[in-house]
Amino acid sequence: MIKFKLGKDDKTILDYSDLAFIRKLTKKMRDPKTRFDPREFVSKGEDYLFNYTNKNVGSVDEKRRRFLKSLIFGIAAAAVVGIIPGVRVLVPPTVTVTSGFPKSLLVDSSGNPIKASSLPVNSPYIVIFEYPMTGEPNFLINLGDASGKPVEIPPTKVVVPQTGKTYDFPGGVGPYKSIVAYSAICQHLGCTPPYIHFYPPQYVGPAQLSAPEPDQLSAQALLAAKQAKVPALIHCDCHGSTYDPYHGAAVLTGPTVRPLPAVVLEWDSSTDYLYAIGAVGVATYPNGSNGIPSTNPTDDLSSSFGSPVGNKTVVSETENPFSS
Ligand code: FES
Repeated sequence: MIKFKLGKDDKTILDYSDLAFIRKLTKKMRDPKTRFDPREFVSKGEDYLFNYTNKNVGSVDEKRRRFLKSLIFGIAAAAVVGIIPGVRVLVPPTVTVTSGFPKSLLVDSSGNPIKASSLPVNSPYIVIFEYPMTGEPNFLINLGDASGKPVEIPPTKVVVPQTGKTYDFPGGVGPYKSIVAYSAICQHLGCTPPYIHFYPPQYVGPAQLSAPEPDQLSAQALLAAKQAKVPALIHCDCHGSTYDPYHGAAVLTGPTVRPLPAVVLEWDSSTDYLYAIGAVGVATYPNGSNGIPSTNPTDDLSSSFGSPVGNKTVVSETENPFSS
């Protein structure tokens, strides 16, 4: 049996027959004869997913239905972008930390601290670090204006459209207060880079309407950027959710109903080092039975999707989607 930590109590909720079931499901989803249709899933949601599962794999054990449901949703969301997660995702380690974010120094792959002054402004590369848990990618972005000068990002109140509630985003850090960090997990159905990424100003224009995925903007995204008077965007190609990196990754266009959670950064001006010290916004992992995630982002620390990153986290450039 495999144990997952779900809140306060350890419960044995997934056994090897469940894993076999999940493997069978992912195989069926890939099989051309029984191919899972992501568009149907996006338009019909749960109904399509459970009809598909019942028809091709068999019914879900009622006892474990709730847990399997979230797991299967993760698989189906990944299928939407053509990625089936591996068993590592399905069998996360038990997490024991339940409160308090780590203070993590941002380092490069050799362990050397990242210097804030050396971060390129408006970089088209996908620059990622994990925080507060392994497996939780976040964007690190040095924001600039259309001419490439760093832009000071002031503190702002961010609205969560799903609930109408607000929270405070503390603003940018670094020598120009232009450096920000946001979760790279889309708050709609969980797509991750490269399908969600930063669009520097030179890529926020009509040419991007017909660009191949994963750097195709929608007309709504362009219009929203114009109305919000922002030169750059974070956009998710999966279904078009658009976020405003200048204002706490607030929602510019749906279907997401939640902003990207923000990592709170600290800049040490004497060393030029950057630290991740917390997070604001909704929790990345929804855990409310009504589908509304907790407003306390520390809840991520007790999720079963990774282990705490500790006092250092590696920043890596994963790719430049515009060059492919
Ligand atoms: S996962 Fe649907 S828009 Fe990002």
